[in-house]
Amino acid sequence: MSKQEIIICKNLKEDIRKAVSSHKYDKMFVLTDEHTKDLCLPLVEDILSIKEAIHICIGVEDVNKTLESLSHVWTELSCKGATRHSLLINIGGGMVTDLGGFAAATFKRGISYINIPTTLLSMVDAAVGGKTGINFNGLKNEIGAFAPASHVIIDCNFLKTLDLKNILSGYAEMLKHGLISSEDERKELLGFNFCDEIDYGRLQELVGKSVFIKEKIVEQDPFEKNIRKALNLGHTIGHAFESLALKREHHMLHGYAVAWGIVCELYLSFLKTNFPKDKLYQTVSFIKENYGKMPFTCKDYDTLYELMTHDKKNDTADTINFTLLSEAGVIKINQTATKEEIFESLDFYCETMG
Ligand code: GLY
Repeated sequence: MSKQEIIICKNLKEDIRKAVSSHKYDKMFVLTDEHTKDLCLPLVEDILSIKEAIHICIGVEDVNKTLESLSHVWTELSCKGATRHSLLINIGGGMVTDLGGFAAATFKRGISYINIPTTLLSMVDAAVGGKTGINFNGLKNEIGAFAPASHVIIDCNFLKTLDLKNILSGYAEMLKHGLISSEDERKELLGFNFCDEIDYGRLQELVGKSVFIKEKIVEQDPFEKNIRKALNLGHTIGHAFESLALKREHHMLHGYAVAWGIVCELYLSFLKTNFPKDKLYQTVSFIKENYGKMPFTCKDYDTLYELMTHDKKNDTADTINFTLLSEAGVIKINQTATKEEIFESLDFYCETMG
């Protein structure tokens, strides 16, 4: 997989100009959603190449990460004369960068694209590392491809337009990166204060470090055969929480599900791989304070377990795979847990988060 150039912006327009001029393209297309078209595009619209580009807009949020939206993008590219030498720029959150990336990966067997993520979640996770795709048949990211953007241009000024919930949603992925990286990173992330006004300068420094952690892991294992599985910490149980919420038509931000998944999976780490108890409780208390609690009871355990068995990271139908830790920064991939152990981690969640 080719390497992405990740740019933590000092000057958004200048960085876009440079990234664009590194491409020889015939036509440029810009993909936004209904929100980023109004809120983010105006910040870069006076760059000549963007002004002259052909614009495509799709609906907002995960419900639009569909084959229909993808087909709309393909149709626009096809009808408006895109060739194999055209360039696509995705401006938006994870939905736009995932779907736009997949449209680019598949149109005429692949055209170049640049990601300009506008949410914290997409800056530190979705836009980085080349995973692209759409939801299909009721399953998240069911269809997709590994296809990196040529450049990911990260401007933390976009974060000033986000509400606290969306900042916290992205921060959960940063916390995950800290946990898999080192004790220093874990402690530093638990020290960030969300009670007072957000310190965006400090947040930008932490974003830079977080992206660097992900970049290093993806470089070692771009196709998730090995160490990239570390990035799944919190996601096995987190995805089950997200799917349960979906079944109940209850809106849940991805990062909240990941934060709550981290609570259970750190408990499994304590149980199975000796993750230190004090660090478990410190991390859980940070999550409880900032994310609150996903409401479920022991009546939901079987449904949650059933949802975990569908996780695409499992090797067989009756084992559930986890990434666990034996210390902050000491990663244990390819771990399994029994149904009883998983239920025990859900009990721990209910008791400590209660
Ligand atoms: N979001 C996890 C990964 O990129 O591998």
